[in-house]
Amino acid sequence: MALIRLSHQGLAGGVIAGIAIGGVAAVLVIAASIYLGCYRKKKAKEAQFLLTASEDISAQNGRGPGSTFGMDMQSTGPADGSASVLAGITVDKSVEFSYEELATATDNFSLANKIGEGGFGSVYYAELRGEKAAIKKMDTQASREFLAELNVLTRVHHLNLVRLIGYCIGESLFLVYEFIENGNLSQHLRGSAGRDPLPWSARVQIALDSARGLEYIHEHTVPVYIHRDIKSANILIDNNLHAKVADFGLAKLTEVGGSSLPTRLVGTFGYMPPEYAQYGEVTPKVDVYAFGVVLYELISAKEAVVRPSGSSVESKGLVGLFDDVLNEPNPGEDLRKLVDPRLGDDYPLDSVLKVGMLAKACTQDNPQLRPSMRGIVVALMTLSSTTEDWDVRAFYENQALVNLMSGR
Ligand SMILES: Nc1ncnc2c1ncn2[C@@H]1O[C@H](COP(=O)(O)OP(=O)(O)OP(=O)(O)O)[C@@H](O)[C@H]1O
Ligand SMILES: [Mg+2]
Repeated sequence: MALIRLSHQGLAGGVIAGIAIGGVAAVLVIAASIYLGCYRKKKAKEAQFLLTASEDISAQNGRGPGSTFGMDMQSTGPADGSASVLAGITVDKSVEFSYEELATATDNFSLANKIGEGGFGSVYYAELRGEKAAIKKMDTQASREFLAELNVLTRVHHLNLVRLIGYCIGESLFLVYEFIENGNLSQHLRGSAGRDPLPWSARVQIALDSARGLEYIHEHTVPVYIHRDIKSANILIDNNLHAKVADFGLAKLTEVGGSSLPTRLVGTFGYMPPEYAQYGEVTPKVDVYAFGVVLYELISAKEAVVRPSGSSVESKGLVGLFDDVLNEPNPGEDLRKLVDPRLGDDYPLDSVLKVGMLAKACTQDNPQLRPSMRGIVVALMTLSSTTEDWDVRAFYENQALVNLMSGR
């Protein structure tokens, strides 16, 4: 109706405008369908890639796809294992690095850039995308099965956990972590590279920081993690003498590593509780035990396994060494002999004794009698705040255990 009333000129103008709009719309529609086509192809490729990984893991575990991947997989996965099961995992490109990028940043993984070596491979310093980073080059053959687990790990953030920035899957597996400036706790305690002795208050703070990091992975992540390799070398120290727990989730990564990797006991001598070393029983209390050993290290600066110089004398664990002293009716004086000589007399004995008692509770043979990391955090918070009185009950969940420990 409106068109009839238009003049010839107006009609021509309308037609031209209509054609122009139609043309633009058509171009847009074609562009969108080309983009969608490419996007779907890419997604299908990713899904296929992840499906292969999932099937490998399922075969290894005898469980359905999704069961090993934690929240992302569980929430999206139908039981038939179709590719759509895996659509819930989005590969976040910001955490993927190319091999070239890592090689350039480490000067081809040069010795000059190497900052350490551990049970899983070598660690290199690098500056990546404007951030200081530590790159762990894993000895294991990189397997694509790591991807889903890695994606979950890159999303776990806590002040007291060393952050996994990203990774690179090439011929080897590379893990890119935030760089922590001030070395590891073991180096501080042993005074390597001329490091000053840590004051007692810093040691209590480091214990509390590490306990907080562990409490977080035990209770607040999905899925929850058990570290399995807590030791002073895996506690990194920043410039303010605060601590961050390194390498959490690594044990799990090696587990999803595919059939080529034999099941192995992850852990370090001197830190493994009896139920884990003997039967491979893994509960959060494995970390609690190892944490107790770290507490003994903080007190004494001794290694977890004390190897005497004379070959005729047996090696002894820190746990045995401290148990002997702490079981005495008045352990004070003998405890002094175990305190790090580099502290001189610069420590409150009652505070050392309390940390010792906490460590003793953590390293009991019976895992059920050990406190939880949450209880340990509460106990250490009380100790580090000078105004409140330390209460031994803080690290036990029920009165019966307190009575048992205090011999009532
Ligand atoms: N994110 C990091 N920032 C700074 N230094 C690091 C970082 N990660 C590791 N390092 C250093 O590299 C060393 C080697 O680390 P790595 O984890 O390979 O071995 P480890 O901790 O001695 O033993 P494990 O293999 O059992 O963890 C560490 O002791 C630490 O000093
Ligand atoms: Mg480590």
